[in-house]
Amino acid sequence: MKKMYKKNSPYQVPCKPGEQLAICLCGHSDDPPFCSGAHKKKAPEISPKIINRDHDETLYICGCGESKNIPECDGTHNTCPENEAYRNRW
Ligand code: FES
Repeated sequence: MKKMYKKNSPYQVPCKPGEQLAICLCGHSDDPPFCSGAHKKKAPEISPKIINRDHDETLYICGCGESKNIPECDGTHNTCPENEAYRNRW
């Protein structure tokens, strides 16, 4: 499993107005969820997603790798077998 997606829950990333964030799309980042440049060696065909906002916002970045809306979390982690909370739901 790619390093970034071993978290099995979303990364919460505060984003300030005018701030530009480079979010990892390759999953190999050494500083998830931010791009660390690791893609250049491990997945040169992939580039990070550049996100910027004109208002304060907390971004929820996928940490399980199963989101249908990568890099943003869509709640799929809640039903991931790897997710401890999900496994212990009974
Ligand atoms: S390190 Fe993953 S996109 Fe840059």
